[in-house]
Amino acid sequence: MIYLKTDEEIELLRLSNTLVAKTLAEVAKNIKPGVTTLKLDKIAEKYIRDEGGIPGFLNYQGYPNTLCTSVNEQVVHGIPGKYELRDGDIISVDCGVLLNGFYGDSAYTFKVGDVKPEIIDLLNATKHSLYLGIDKAIAGNRLGDIGFAIQEYTESKGYSVVREMVGHGIGKELHEAPEVPNYGRAGNGIQLKEGMVIAIEPMINLGKRNIVQESDGWTIRTSDKMVSAHFEHTIVIRKSKAEILSSFDFVEEVLSLQSEK
Ligand code: MF3
Ligand code: CO
Repeated sequence: MIYLKTDEEIELLRLSNTLVAKTLAEVAKNIKPGVTTLKLDKIAEKYIRDEGGIPGFLNYQGYPNTLCTSVNEQVVHGIPGKYELRDGDIISVDCGVLLNGFYGDSAYTFKVGDVKPEIIDLLNATKHSLYLGIDKAIAGNRLGDIGFAIQEYTESKGYSVVREMVGHGIGKELHEAPEVPNYGRAGNGIQLKEGMVIAIEPMINLGKRNIVQESDGWTIRTSDKMVSAHFEHTIVIRKSKAEILSSFDFVEEVLSLQSEK
């Protein structure tokens, strides 16, 4: 069952996703060599609660934390812990909140200090692929158009697309129908309708597409241990252009101030 959201519901979803965007910016301020992923998690949890929200991932199917922090070869669902970030790492920070009964969900992959050019290229391409997917997320198009756009672009760069993990509908539940794969065929799948709210979240690998789950029962990493990037926006399908309910503006404002230093 795919729920079409009313304009009132979409305004609430915008508030939830804005809180996620601002939380990611608070995390961004603290990403540097030596910081533990658990410290980032605690910063996010406090910020969300201070703003009146509830961490959206905490206790979800038993998930133990506020953030998913996935470093280097970790793809998604990395559990925050005592690992200290190192110069040259990349870290996907995925954040969800529940506010006024609606979920927000967004993710950004950050550089830690100086990162190899080939990895920076992967980050840029993964983020770009997310926007190419969003460009296809308009009423009348098909679900497969989104995945096709992401797959075609990233594979043309020599990267690979994770298949087992996908984007999703979002609303009163964190994960609603439909599943939103990051691969597919143009013209295939359900037809997109105005008012559908979905999270699009390409997970793109520098090496092979295969993944394995770590023994912690959550962390997904690449089989070949090459790095993986992940960016996620929550969007609403509209007639001529999707509306992005989450935002990277707050994060990128923080990053641009950091690069001036
Ligand atoms: N944003 C991710 C997703 O959409 C992470 C949620 S899984 C959780 O699937 F268990 F950590 F909540
Ligand atoms: Co998601």
